[in-house]
Amino acid sequence: MSFTTSWLGDKEARRVVEILQERLSALNDLHLTLKHIHWNVVGPNFIGVHEMIDPQVTLVRGYADTIAERIATLGGSPRGTAHAIETDRSWDDYSLGRDTAQAHLAALDVVYDGFISTQRAGITETEEIDPVTQDILIGQSAELEKFQWFVRAHLENAAGELTHAGQHTETGAADQAR
Ligand SMILES: [Fe+2]
Repeated sequence: MSFTTSWLGDKEARRVVEILQERLSALNDLHLTLKHIHWNVVGPNFIGVHEMIDPQVTLVRGYADTIAERIATLGGSPRGTAHAIETDRSWDDYSLGRDTAQAHLAALDVVYDGFISTQRAGITETEEIDPVTQDILIGQSAELEKFQWFVRAHLENAAGELTHAGQHTETGAADQAR
């Protein structure tokens, strides 16, 4: 890795690139998962969920582009292939196929929990070593957390309880929400 930025030390730049590469693969996986849900959702709430997802796909693809270009700016080589997604991710492939809106949204809530918790860990870690990267991660997290609210709003009752409360796996959340 030869660095094109002089603002970070070698060690710090390498660590930031590592964090960003994991985020790039997570974002690439996320926009594929969102499209998969867009294609597989069924039932009375089909159209609302089908149409809610496409703008998020566009947003997430744009975020992947921003992250990849930050990697390049720091002197790294962004890996955007399917193989990179496979090797970088610590989570399983999205587990639902054709299913109801409630099942997919509950599973998607679990997906966003995982994504955002790692994003926030990245925000904490980049605080000192690269506040510019941190600023990118914070801005993205604000929009992703807002979308998670959109998802959860479909799964909430008037008391603010979620249909899939206490479930932390996609299949567990889907089973309880269905
Ligand atoms: Fe479509």
